[in-house]
Amino acid sequence: MKQALTLLAAAILVATPALADPVGMRAKGGQPEYLFLETTPRAEAAATAQKLAKAVVAARLIIFAYGAKITNPELGDKGFGGEFFERQWRSAVEDDMIDATPNQKRIYEKLFWAGRQVIENNQDRINVKGIAWKHFLPAKWEREMGQVFTARTGIIIKQPGRTYRNPVNVPDAAELSTLQHFVGAERTDNKPITSFTTMGKQAVYRHMEPIRLVAPCLPCHGKPKGEPDMLGFEKDGLEAGDLIGLMSVTIGVSD
Ligand code: HEC
Repeated sequence: MKQALTLLAAAILVATPALADPVGMRAKGGQPEYLFLETTPRAEAAATAQKLAKAVVAARLIIFAYGAKITNPELGDKGFGGEFFERQWRSAVEDDMIDATPNQKRIYEKLFWAGRQVIENNQDRINVKGIAWKHFLPAKWEREMGQVFTARTGIIIKQPGRTYRNPVNVPDAAELSTLQHFVGAERTDNKPITSFTTMGKQAVYRHMEPIRLVAPCLPCHGKPKGEPDMLGFEKDGLEAGDLIGLMSVTIGVSD
């Protein structure tokens, strides 16, 4: 009897791993944020998300404009520090801040703080001499800024990719269907897809707008499809005007 029990126990032990989830898969349930620290009143939600998306696009353009300098292998210090960046960014969004509510102004300040942090964190990388492609791009800044901003505010800013290069940019179910919508739509269709929904128990507002390619993006995201770009990723085979990803903002709603 004792032996039979031992055998049974051994059989259960052997069988147990088969009950566990497959290794390396996403854990089920849960959500990207749990504690939505900064929220927006329902009536302000659309404007808050729009302002955030617009400010992030403006920052991407500033980094993009410094691309030639950042990738110049002859230069050490590029003069592209946190304070310098923040000043330019603030002046680019000045007009949108005029009608910002006190709640939106506080969120803007946290956005500027997060964006500046990321430029400061990347100084050693940006200032490397002798290497052209240092993997400092608008998309990388946005990914890191989004993580810092979410950590401080609970507001999720993401850029899910059509075929993502960084795993942080994997689309969730809503983002995936929005990507599919824009892939199937006219290139001129840039109307954001928005919704009031929930994330866990939290009421949220989601805003997703297309990010489209322009000519200077094509050395990496263009043709010929499958050929490696300068960072080793396979080119996407897309053209100017094509969808490459989404600017996705999710903000908790307070009422
Ligand atoms: C030098 C090559 C290069 C160029 C040029 C480039 N990208 Fe990318 N792109 C990348 C890399 C590498 C990533 C991954 C960045 C990261 O998160 O580290 C990326 C990521 C992205 C993402 C996020 C989804 C993903 O794939 O992870 C979007 C959206 C994007 N790029 C759009 C653009 C747009 C728009 C342009 C032109 C304005 C552009 N890119 C120019 C290399 C490039």
